[in-house]
Amino acid sequence: IIASFQSKVLAGKRVLLTAGPTFEPIDPVRGITNLSSGKMGYAIARAAREAGAEVTLVSGPTALDTPYGVHRINVQTAQQMHDVVLSRVGGQDVFIAVAAVADWRVANASGQKLKKNGAGDVPRLDFAQNPDILAAVAALPGRPYCVGFAAESEKLLEYGEEKRKRKGIPLLVGNIGHQTFGKDENELVLFDDAGHQRLPRADKRMLGRLLVGEIARRLG
Ligand code: CTP
Ligand code: CA
Repeated sequence: IIASFQSKVLAGKRVLLTAGPTFEPIDPVRGITNLSSGKMGYAIARAAREAGAEVTLVSGPTALDTPYGVHRINVQTAQQMHDVVLSRVGGQDVFIAVAAVADWRVANASGQKLKKNGAGDVPRLDFAQNPDILAAVAALPGRPYCVGFAAESEKLLEYGEEKRKRKGIPLLVGNIGHQTFGKDENELVLFDDAGHQRLPRADKRMLGRLLVGEIARRLG
């Protein structure tokens, strides 16, 4: 690892990442989000930059500082994240989808703040499916090397392999999601053509470096 960082394994490469949660509005003051902290994605962005890459980070709302030297673009919704990624993906060598993107948005979001009424009526929310950003990038002609993440609550080995194939990507990184969201440590499993491989449990900074090494090795 140390040696690979001294030799800047991603020198001259352009890396685009998504990180953090998305926020899907219900009305101007409320919305639906998830427990992703952004720590894993930011750690990978930092490690990629340290390895010599030019790094663009498309981030949902987080409480994290931008890693040194990383170009960060803030978004709220999955649709915004999708649009920014697709406008920036041209000329990228690597795309790493770390964000916990909302699968659905509120289709009947209100332009005004929803108000209680005396009768105790509750609002009804309708949902629409969001675009799959990773699948959209993976389907591009001349696509970058695509890396996906999967946070599962069970059957990680089975779902991870299935998800990698369904998304049509060469590398997928799996973890048991709800146990690691917001934590400083993580336990990752890599899925690729050759099968799966567990990475040692470590803090996210270290895992970011390990993953950058794994990606650089596969880029050749
Ligand atoms: N992803 C994405 N855009 C979406 C949903 C997911 O780019 N609208 C990306 C995530 O960033 C992650 C990968 O796809 O890299 C897998 O996300 P995940 O939620 O685990 O998979 P889904 O295909 O959404 O399936 P499900 O949530 O039903 O398990
Ligand atoms: Ca999902």
